[in-house]
Amino acid sequence: MNMGLNEPMDVFRDLESEVRSYCRAFPTVFTWARGYKLGDLQGKEYIDFFSGAGALNYGHNNPAMKARLLNYIAEDGITHGLDMATAAKSEFLEQFRAVILEPRKMKYKIMFPGPTGTNAVESALKLARKVTGRDTIISFTNAFHGMTLGSLSITGNSWKREGAGIPLQNVSFMPFDGYFGTDVDTVEYIVNFLDNSSSGVPIPAAIILETVQGEGGINAANFEWLQRIEKVCRDRDILLIVDDIQAGCGRTGTFFSFEPARIKPDIICLSKSLSGYGLPLAMVLIKPELDIWSAGEHNGTFRGNNLAFVTATEALNYWKDDSFTQEINDKAETMNLYLQDLIESYPEIQGEVRGRGLLQGVACQVEGLAEEISQAAFERGLLIETSGAENEVVKLMPPLVIDEIGLQKGLKVLAESIGHVGNKLAPEVARQKTETSEKKHFPAFCCGFQFGSGVVIRGRGV
Ligand SMILES: Cc1ncc(COP(=O)(O)O)c(C=O)c1O
Repeated sequence: MNMGLNEPMDVFRDLESEVRSYCRAFPTVFTWARGYKLGDLQGKEYIDFFSGAGALNYGHNNPAMKARLLNYIAEDGITHGLDMATAAKSEFLEQFRAVILEPRKMKYKIMFPGPTGTNAVESALKLARKVTGRDTIISFTNAFHGMTLGSLSITGNSWKREGAGIPLQNVSFMPFDGYFGTDVDTVEYIVNFLDNSSSGVPIPAAIILETVQGEGGINAANFEWLQRIEKVCRDRDILLIVDDIQAGCGRTGTFFSFEPARIKPDIICLSKSLSGYGLPLAMVLIKPELDIWSAGEHNGTFRGNNLAFVTATEALNYWKDDSFTQEINDKAETMNLYLQDLIESYPEIQGEVRGRGLLQGVACQVEGLAEEISQAAFERGLLIETSGAENEVVKLMPPLVIDEIGLQKGLKVLAESIGHVGNKLAPEVARQKTETSEKKHFPAFCCGFQFGSGVVIRGRGV
């Protein structure tokens, strides 16, 4: 019997596997969430610069999606139907064609694998191998594609790879854009491997990439680099797969992250914010001529989550014109300017601003600093995570729908957190800088500080 003596986090520590991670990074029990805010058992409010690792681009409990979902449930709409035809799926498909595919002149067939990102990646790899008859995939340094064996095999991080417990094969890793610094053209490097029959690198079934590597440290590929990779694929009959699971669904400004680069991937993976409501849903877009699956050749019990179709259909209303893209770009610029100022104000953190759209990061060259900043932010009421090989990047990912006030409040808490951590590096200088930085950006805001002492053990990855 619960005698009421337990601390709220005890049950998680006692019963949940050691594999748990985000509840260690953000050690509190959350009870409600709305828009860009969450609240916990103690009545403390948090600003969300984390967005469910990219699954909540439209904020928590988006009112239009919630209303539609409640109505659907009240009318006994189908909740589970494997991949049977349902009204909810039909409406989603029609809306996706009208709002996303047709305006972009994109012709793709749509596959619904199991509802997580890694399901979409596994399906894409399987299909690429089936279509080409080749077994190798080219992936990139710092890539992250998921935790099941196929997705893990094309993920760079050695700590995550070791978890597989078996050799991860049939992949060649190549340097991502900028991996060797700005002076080295990594496309030329890749071409040398592919065109030399003694390089040991076979022509792959596909090249898979993220246009902005989210988990790998917010590395944004140059548009020209993406175009040249596409040409490498076209010239050698290699399929191009874009994993848009994190960078897609508007995160970088456009619905697909690759739109400004004007490339046409053969296969596109989507998940995370596709449902718009945090409900699991994944999708693989396949050029029609590549859709050579036999019926049921790749299946799963939870293909096509009907509740997610309902909210996803509503979410697509954001994309009926360009105004949402404009709104995201404006906020992204505000964020970028603010971060540039911050790293100038705090040279001791050795920061570098990275990313595109509302997927930005501050890479800190000082070991352990990004994690300390994330912890300091949590104590002050801001949820923000880290990414990168050594968790060296503070990763900013607010909901795309965050308003100006929320964005500025969150940035201010981040500045205070950097100030606090920087204080330990150079106390007096940092104090003065925090004050100057606050005056410069936010004369109108005043946030209460809440200092805590929880030790944060960072989980790595999603
Ligand atoms: C680019 C990318 N691909 C795949 C995945 C895996 O998605 P899931 O965690 O839903 O399996 C993620 C998760 O962060 C991701 O960022």
